[in-house]
Amino acid sequence: MKNRLNRSQVYYLVILLVLGLGLFLRIFMQQPRGLRHLAQSHDLEIGTAVSSWQLDDPEFIRRLLHDFSLITPENEMKFEVLQPAPGRYDFSGADKIVAFAENHGLHVRGHTLVWTNQLPEWLITGDYSREELLSILQRYIQDVVGRYRGRIQYWDVVNEALSPDGDIATNNFWMQRIGPDYIAYAFQWAHEADPNAMLFYNESYAEGKSLKSDGVITLVMELQEKGIPIDGIGFEMHTGLGWSPDPLEVAENMQRLRKLSMVVHVTEMDVRIVEPATNDDLDQQAKVYGEILQTCLEALNCSSFATWGMTDDHSWIPYVYPDSGSALIFFGNYEPKPAYYSMRDILEGK
Ligand code: XIL
Repeated sequence: MKNRLNRSQVYYLVILLVLGLGLFLRIFMQQPRGLRHLAQSHDLEIGTAVSSWQLDDPEFIRRLLHDFSLITPENEMKFEVLQPAPGRYDFSGADKIVAFAENHGLHVRGHTLVWTNQLPEWLITGDYSREELLSILQRYIQDVVGRYRGRIQYWDVVNEALSPDGDIATNNFWMQRIGPDYIAYAFQWAHEADPNAMLFYNESYAEGKSLKSDGVITLVMELQEKGIPIDGIGFEMHTGLGWSPDPLEVAENMQRLRKLSMVVHVTEMDVRIVEPATNDDLDQQAKVYGEILQTCLEALNCSSFATWGMTDDHSWIPYVYPDSGSALIFFGNYEPKPAYYSMRDILEGK
């Protein structure tokens, strides 16, 4: 009986518990909500490009799940990776990414079925006729889209098929070997393989008003006239300080696509800076991210906003443009950059 608490000790204990609970709730409630949750109330996806090996890093996963609802394999669903030899598939990276998404309640953007880059050597150098290439492509789309049927919500069916003047680019493997019909075939086959996936045409540098973005409109109209299923347009939004697209033009462009019943997704945004990036540069960059996000929120048909990688250490930019970098919304150590806070403020309506 000696060990029993007396009445005042019990009071103390209760008070301590209440105070402790209060402190816990305070800290917990003050924990800032991630972009992903803030975007939910706007029916907006927040996405990023990932590689399968990044999904082994607990710090990467923590940040990813805090802020993002959508992932795009940066390279592991490209033709050269998925079919390294004729008829032989390697789905290891792609499978891992899709399984991760399913286990964590994320959506997936399949990227990309038909592109002239990152094709396997055997395909480029092979002596295939037009008919043979059509059947290789049909089989490929059936196999890949069919494998993930019901598990991949959005597909970039055709990537970067237009030239700067808005015509179907001729410096393109599929155009040279099949002709302009390759685009319609690809959408048709993707739809047959997964009738519920949303199918996108994804394009670079066609966000504002230009011959190229006019070309996107023409392409959509031509596909629709033929009865080919297409749901939306991806605006890659690779841009840089001093040459980002005019938000008013982006808004107009989104609106004219809306008239054609097209959804718009911002699919690969980054804003590159010539190094070294100053604090002022980072503030300017924050403004660009904020303007594009705001434009997407205000458009009635823009429902996803994705960056091309999560932190500056995951960005492709320094590899392709060695004088530039700092293009994403987190520093390499996962600390949010001004761009992150500007996106958060906009999602919070500030
Ligand atoms: C890039 C990847 O980020 C790089 O790692 C790879 O070496 C080349 O491709 N437009 C696209 C993306 O649609 O697939 C490209 O990704 C960037 C430009």
